[in-house]
Amino acid sequence: MSDAVPRPLSTVRTAALSGRVRVPGDKSISHRALMLGALSTGKTRITGLLEGEDVIGTAKALTALGALAEKEGDTWVVTGRGVGGLSQPDGPIDFGNSGTGVRLMMGVIAGHPITVKMTGDASLTKRPMRRVLAPLKQMGLEIAEDRETLPLTLRGSDQLVPIVYELPVPSAQVKSAVLLAGLHTAGETTVLEREPTRDHTERMLRYFGADVQTERVDGKTRITVKGDAELAGRDVVVPGDPSSAAFLVCAALLVPGSDVTIEGVLVNESRTGLYVTLQEMGGDVTFTNAREEGGEPIADIRARFSRLKGVNVPAERAPSMIDEYPVLSCVASFAEGDTRMHGLAELKVKESDRLAATAAGLEANGVKATVDGDTLIVHGNGGPVAGGGIVTTHLDHRIAMAFLTMGLASEAPVTVDDTAMIATSFPQFLDLMGQLGASYREK
Ligand code: S3P
Repeated sequence: MSDAVPRPLSTVRTAALSGRVRVPGDKSISHRALMLGALSTGKTRITGLLEGEDVIGTAKALTALGALAEKEGDTWVVTGRGVGGLSQPDGPIDFGNSGTGVRLMMGVIAGHPITVKMTGDASLTKRPMRRVLAPLKQMGLEIAEDRETLPLTLRGSDQLVPIVYELPVPSAQVKSAVLLAGLHTAGETTVLEREPTRDHTERMLRYFGADVQTERVDGKTRITVKGDAELAGRDVVVPGDPSSAAFLVCAALLVPGSDVTIEGVLVNESRTGLYVTLQEMGGDVTFTNAREEGGEPIADIRARFSRLKGVNVPAERAPSMIDEYPVLSCVASFAEGDTRMHGLAELKVKESDRLAATAAGLEANGVKATVDGDTLIVHGNGGPVAGGGIVTTHLDHRIAMAFLTMGLASEAPVTVDDTAMIATSFPQFLDLMGQLGASYREK
């Protein structure tokens, strides 16, 4: 799926963007809804599921493992197998570009006495898996290969042991994999995290009936899941993805005269670091109509063109905006003064080395950017940037979308070398940008 023929695209400098739109469902919640549905008894009905390649990959993986996930009308229906009820697949499972899909599924598979070969595309097969495999091996998972990257063959067990595990890196994927494996143990599994990461797995596990306790102890968050869990299928409404809405909001801030509203966006605090930062920069970004849906807070987000100033973005904020640094960097290049973003080590192990790819994309478009260890400094231009460069996306959807956002307001068009990958997380990106008034040109 993701090793498609490259599709380069150039931006067209755009007049004011306006309108009210919805973005597709949150990617993190979509993966989790499918997985918990598969581990439940009975049916789970999901509306608003993100139909990007990554999430569809998870639906196919679960179907291959015996938990049918299929679309009926507008609803995705998962026929659950219960905790420990998945079965041996017929062949290898390809997770495409999806780190979340493969890492969380490692936690799911760990608790089943089955052998599964897992693989992915040219980006995913380079990404570190040790961070997930190390705790899962402690619990009883076996790996056939002496390697830490995909393809890997996992042998799960119905005798997993519970562990207490402190995350060495702030990663919701690692936390989630351990908690999902913990469902299958005869005891309590605890994850400790120093910096809070997105908590969708904990929230959704509770919603499906698991016993999950969260407390703050000695400056750490301690999350404990009770094993031998029984989950019951539920209805899930997936809210709009704040990481997708980010591009539309940032475009509105950059293009003079813009006024854009995105309806029904997830505003869970563990995901809103970008929006806080944009407000600190002087961005006219407001949350209205705050409400709750399916155990998660949502709101409508309105953004209007703004003159921005550079800010310091503290390292503690990184987990709550980890996927948003490329687009924030593009926005920061229009601001007055420097923006310093600290604590970006994890950016180096995303779909690409996003720290290097972002800095290179900025430089190619006449923006000065400095990487200093785990800090990225963008030297703002105090107005429209030059543009005119070609951005290498390295199979990374967020690099492509960030620069396709920046180019709407740059002096000369910005070209990205590939847009095929956008379909992994936000297939409607170009359509929605178009609805707001943006246009693009094929190269
Ligand atoms: C995700 C966690 C983050 C994020 C990814 C989705 C999740 O990854 O970058 O897009 O759904 O748990 P890490 O856990 O590696 O930080």
